[in-house]
Amino acid sequence: MKHLLSATDLDASTATLVLDTAAEMATLAGREVKKLPTLRGRTVVNLFYEDSTRTRISFEAAAKRLSADVINFSAKGSSVSKGESLKDTALTLQAMGADAVVIRHPASGAPHRLSTWVAGSVVNAGDGTHEHPTQALLDAYTMRSRLGRLAGLSVAIVGDVLHSRVARSNVHLLATLGAKVTLVGPPTLIPPDLRTEVSYDLDAVLPDADVVMMLRVQRERMAASYFPSAREYARRYGLDGPRMRRLPDHAIVMHPGPMNRGMEIAPEVADSARSTIVEQVANGVSVRMAVLYLLLGGKS
Ligand code: NCD
Repeated sequence: MKHLLSATDLDASTATLVLDTAAEMATLAGREVKKLPTLRGRTVVNLFYEDSTRTRISFEAAAKRLSADVINFSAKGSSVSKGESLKDTALTLQAMGADAVVIRHPASGAPHRLSTWVAGSVVNAGDGTHEHPTQALLDAYTMRSRLGRLAGLSVAIVGDVLHSRVARSNVHLLATLGAKVTLVGPPTLIPPDLRTEVSYDLDAVLPDADVVMMLRVQRERMAASYFPSAREYARRYGLDGPRMRRLPDHAIVMHPGPMNRGMEIAPEVADSARSTIVEQVANGVSVRMAVLYLLLGGKS
């Protein structure tokens, strides 16, 4: 595999290889010296046209732990604010000899375009409302490490699915790995094109769920009004303490971050023992190490 643009680029055996490689990478996190020489002399560029905390830091940590040289480029303060096109930026990166470009962009499809202009590998770190494949991989990794398997799991993905590239990538990857996904939310926030089960009733779905993945309500992508009020949304689709107690004992609660505490998820739930939110961040570094390692064909 040359690029990772979509979760649909991964078949079951490739996805499992990434998760198994990530598990090996994770053993490094417990060591005093958290570094492998694998990508020494290779250059990874982080090209972020949209705000990010977790994902950008995670890719940076992953590349550094593999000893790659890392260049962080953010659109703010660069020639992008002078109107430079993605193509001209790509040609600049190309001239600098980037072996991998990790891109986050507000336009769906931008990573795909970029992959036609640069010689190195392109990793999609979130494009518009389209996909975020490394997030789906780290989510699958987290489910597998908490619950021991992926095949046969019932996963409820709850909330603003319409604007969520995290949900879209998870739907594809989890289908590939044999889990059963139910999308839950108000009808206005469930896109019609994702071929998986849908429910508008969170309380009905919870007793049978192994995993509940709560999504952030993405107000910055909402030009129209998709629900009556924040209070009404939280009342019907927010995960609070009493609702969480409807889950089976073994079930876990996930959130990709950033959270709107008190809206889609109550603090009591986010900070509970069922929550994997902090683990997801830690696992993200191991998964991104595995992706960079496999794409750049590094040898240890
Ligand atoms: C998400 C994203 O940017 O797509 N966050 C992330 O990458 N961890 C989800 C979101 O913004 O709500």
